[in-house]
Amino acid sequence: MGADYSSGADPATGAPGPSLTVLGLETSCDETAASVVRLSPDGEATVLSSVVHSQIDDHAAFGGVVPEIAARSHVEMIADVAARAMAEAGLDYAGLDGVAATAGPGLVGGVMVGLSFGKAAALARGLPFVGVNHLEGHAVSARLARPVAYPFLLLLVSGGHCQLLEVRGIGDMSRLGTTIDDAAGEAFDKIAKAMGLGYPGGPALERLAATGDGSRFELPRALLGRKDCDLSFSGLKTAASRLAQACETDQDRADLADAVQTSIARQLSERTARAMADYAERHDQRLLVVAGGVAANRTVRAVLEKTAADRGFDFLAPPMAYCTDNAAMIALAGAERLALGLTSDIDMAARPRWPLDEARALADPVHAKAGRKGAKA
Ligand code: KG4
Ligand code: ZN
Repeated sequence: MGADYSSGADPATGAPGPSLTVLGLETSCDETAASVVRLSPDGEATVLSSVVHSQIDDHAAFGGVVPEIAARSHVEMIADVAARAMAEAGLDYAGLDGVAATAGPGLVGGVMVGLSFGKAAALARGLPFVGVNHLEGHAVSARLARPVAYPFLLLLVSGGHCQLLEVRGIGDMSRLGTTIDDAAGEAFDKIAKAMGLGYPGGPALERLAATGDGSRFELPRALLGRKDCDLSFSGLKTAASRLAQACETDQDRADLADAVQTSIARQLSERTARAMADYAERHDQRLLVVAGGVAANRTVRAVLEKTAADRGFDFLAPPMAYCTDNAAMIALAGAERLALGLTSDIDMAARPRWPLDEARALADPVHAKAGRKGAKA
């Protein structure tokens, strides 16, 4: 941990500190993003700018993200994207209190680009630097919608991650459950690919499902009756990919898309309901936050909102633009860390794997495929 640059509450008087304005950088996958966020002492976050350069066109021909292409594109774009974020915020670096960059987990070649740029920018301007866990960014992303007090139950559903977490504060999270195979977004993407829908699959599958009726398809229901909060999507992926081969008409494909989306939403709901029961034993504040790319799916949001309401939980999801990867969530996580005096050393290394609940991930890696490299999340 680096020096204490905290501008948060005065430790002697408890008086709130000034607002913190942070430049955030995100390059862990296929978006080059930069954003300036101002965090006020009462927890209100204002997004002064949020620039996202998507590499979708660079990867589309390959049906998925190609790490080398991603890293090269981040190198080409990062300076321009950061300059645009600063210009749109109407600030120069003197107006910042810190610089935050994703330090992992993700594709390490890309992570290194944003991390190096962020360190250099901080060093050159004498600003504190904060290396942020990308998943912590998703975890705080709903706080871009409105101030939310900790603790809350978090369902983090993205392309690389699918976990249920008890979030007690920044850097203080326990994993209640995780996928034992694929992430939900990965299932959306792979099934969409099998259906010939292109990349990224989730949004394309959602559009197609709008004209379908999946009731005629019987898809496998994983982990039914299991007492823990883990999730699994590989059986669904295999079954749906096989059914995709047999689809003959556009209506067949739309019906299958609807069945897949319903099935993913149902499992997320079943496992989250289990986690709610567990979480409610420890906390009176009952709030379910859903974050990550899959939280952009309207059916998933609606099903989870009902699941929460049925169990006396409030429900909050980030604004649509902050569900998929963005830098506003990284800037906010950075500002929250800065307010607590948590800064990073300038020689902090990029981490391809970086679980939020490190102790739990080491004790119980769940992912058989994580192997000797350890748990991915
Ligand atoms: O959070 P994110 O941008 O990147 C990761 O950190 O993984 O999530 C991307 C994932 C992809 O798998 C994408 O297909 C999925 O989120 N996704 C969706 C939707 N929008 C994005 N899945 C279903 N419905 C959507 N509307
Ligand atoms: Zn993400």
